[in-house]
Amino acid sequence: MKKIIGLLLVLALVGCSTTNVAGQKKMENTKETKKIVVAHRGASGYLPEHSMAAKSMAYAMGADYIEQDVVMTKDDKLVVLHDHYLDRVTNVATAYPNRKREDGRYYAIDFTLKEIKGLKMTEGFNVKDGKTVAGFPERFPIWKSTFKVHTLAEEIELIQGLNKSTGKNIGIYPEIKAPWFHRNEGKDISVAVLKVLKKYGYTKKSDLVYLQCFDPNEVVRLKTELLPKFGMDVKLIQLIAETSWNETMVYEGGKAVPYDYDWMFEDGGMEKISQYADGIGPWKPMLVTNESTKDHLVITNMVSDAHKFGMEVHPYTFRLDEGRIPAYASDFEDMLDIFYNEVGVDGVFTDFTDKAVNFLNK
Ligand code: G3P
Ligand code: CA
Repeated sequence: MKKIIGLLLVLALVGCSTTNVAGQKKMENTKETKKIVVAHRGASGYLPEHSMAAKSMAYAMGADYIEQDVVMTKDDKLVVLHDHYLDRVTNVATAYPNRKREDGRYYAIDFTLKEIKGLKMTEGFNVKDGKTVAGFPERFPIWKSTFKVHTLAEEIELIQGLNKSTGKNIGIYPEIKAPWFHRNEGKDISVAVLKVLKKYGYTKKSDLVYLQCFDPNEVVRLKTELLPKFGMDVKLIQLIAETSWNETMVYEGGKAVPYDYDWMFEDGGMEKISQYADGIGPWKPMLVTNESTKDHLVITNMVSDAHKFGMEVHPYTFRLDEGRIPAYASDFEDMLDIFYNEVGVDGVFTDFTDKAVNFLNK
């Protein structure tokens, strides 16, 4: 009888313990799996990318993080621009026709902040037959209203100001653009970005900041050299590109050659990244290949491998413009469902903050 009572007691204790552990695990999972929406260049589906208006709109739509692509000016100021050129989103070509380089581009690094602030900024465009043509014809019309390039500090002050006035706590997601290019021009953009982040209180992993970069050499440098030097330890995201995009270059004997990203797609790639980064930012087709159909999704191992090594995964870029939804998804919401729920990503970069926020709130 004593043995039976003892056994029941042990079973009861095991049962209680299992319940507690499971409950605790569930809480941890809820915390761990809180999926996020990153406003890609702000609410760029509705207003010109990286305009202050697009950032305010993304904030009001409920983004968890707002993205800043960052490049440097001639006078060492940090401005929020996707390209290290000015010609896709400003009137620099007409304002300063003689300031282009041999390749025909107008580099932000060749202009002072004052000069850049004097330019008109617009929705992105291309030049065809001498005319400017909107990159996304259904979006905010080009050359309408008034927009200006702003600094990283100005945008952080906007977001922190809104955090104060609304009582919310929305994060920032700065990207150090082309550090290899800036270094070749004699500028250390990473040091400048860290100084601004530190000034505005983003110093540790629990702070609402993800610092992203495509250049693996620079992310390693941030982790091993710069963050310790500045007494900082913020979350680092390794962005992943195709080598053929020439997104990251390395100088070999004075000649720029593309950085080879292939090792990231091989066995052990995610483990290597996890040794210096907290997460990855892959291109969507690196997770669900373009051979996928509605009946058969081809999901790569990248997310499961990244998760295995404790990394978050935030793919780019989720757009609902014509031609931007892969054939394997029936619409934008279905695409979000596939990535958030079937692939299991932790967040997405999207131009349409409201759609992703509404999807997650359902
Ligand atoms: O930074 C992640 C996402 O923004 C993709 O890159 O080219 O739009 O800056 P990009
Ligand atoms: Ca970016």
